[in-house]
Amino acid sequence: MVKIAVLGYGTVGSGVVEVLTTNRESIARKAGEEIDIKYVLDLRDFPGDPIQEKIVHDYQVILDDEEVRVVVEVMGGIEPAFTFVKQALMAGKNVATSNKELVARHGAELIAIARENSVNFMFEASVGGGIPIIRPLLQSLTADEIVEISGILNGTTNYMLTKMSEQGLAYDIVLKNAQDKGYAERNPAADVEGYDACRKIAILASLAYAHQVDFEDIYTEGISKITDTDFVYAKKLGLSIKLLAVCKRQEDKVLAMVSPMMIGPEHPLFNVNNVFNAIFVKGNMLGDAMFYGRGAGKLPTASAVVADVVEEIKHIHTNIRINWSREKLELADMKAAAHRFFVRISGMPEEKGAQVKALFGDVDMIQVKDGEFGIVTPQMKEKDFDEKAAALDGMITRIRGEF
Ligand code: HSE
Repeated sequence: MVKIAVLGYGTVGSGVVEVLTTNRESIARKAGEEIDIKYVLDLRDFPGDPIQEKIVHDYQVILDDEEVRVVVEVMGGIEPAFTFVKQALMAGKNVATSNKELVARHGAELIAIARENSVNFMFEASVGGGIPIIRPLLQSLTADEIVEISGILNGTTNYMLTKMSEQGLAYDIVLKNAQDKGYAERNPAADVEGYDACRKIAILASLAYAHQVDFEDIYTEGISKITDTDFVYAKKLGLSIKLLAVCKRQEDKVLAMVSPMMIGPEHPLFNVNNVFNAIFVKGNMLGDAMFYGRGAGKLPTASAVVADVVEEIKHIHTNIRINWSREKLELADMKAAAHRFFVRISGMPEEKGAQVKALFGDVDMIQVKDGEFGIVTPQMKEKDFDEKAAALDGMITRIRGEF
């Protein structure tokens, strides 16, 4: 029997307990041993809940117990998670985590510490919740060079954009709706400003290119400026608006960004709706692959965490190599990236048309309401678009496009 400890009895922590309880026998068969949760670390007590007999408040109890071979960190945030994980690895314990902030910031360092101590640091649940993507990237796709990863990596914003698209609702209404359903945080900035998706694509890019991709270096734009009127234009154009997290090879560098994008029906992520996540991967040998499923939630996330625990038990004395160097990857300049741009302009085509055509060529003028019109530019570099947009009189908004 292998003893494990769970740090944090919140949504994911209680999900880990539920997965291990519900699938106890089949998990034991697959791991080759029974798994027993010896401790659950939490600041709170849970009187009347059977978990109470495992609750400890002092992490030292877990660290000092040599019987504990795997520590599951599902507290979230950087501290004390970082200190606890580091101490566990240095004490020769394996760690499985769902903590994307921790992995994005300290992944390379924790992987190195795990290797030095012949244990494993695994983090399948940190990106895409229950969707297998980390292990496929590290194992199944190792023969390929990764050309591109494009993902819908945040369920909350995908739910919001889906509701705006399908029901024509305003941003504030869908945000409140997402908060009422418990998807969006009370302070929703991590979701709606793209910070959550940014950390997740930083992790995937670091693994795909085996170097540190700092999330601070990734161009990040959220959905908080997207309006219901933008969707009216998108519908007229036969397009959808999705928050995409992208990393792709661009000449000898890698472009990484998080941005709302207008995409068409031929795009692999066009039909990914509601809270679902999906990750499109292009390999230079494999071609295209798609990973789709629930990117958040108690049981999907816990399922991925427990899969890591089983993998660690199967390799209890062996470090499985993960190539993620602490050396930084220099990213491509966002200004040199090329996109099409959907642009809304105040005024009427008759008065502004000549200026628009002088700047962007012979584009169509689309009208869905009085007092403004929209255009779609040809593909152009960000830098060139910014120059033209500065010269454009009355730009209301612009959304990048890939169609
Ligand atoms: N807030 C995240 C989301 C949770 O909406 O996808 C999972 O990381």
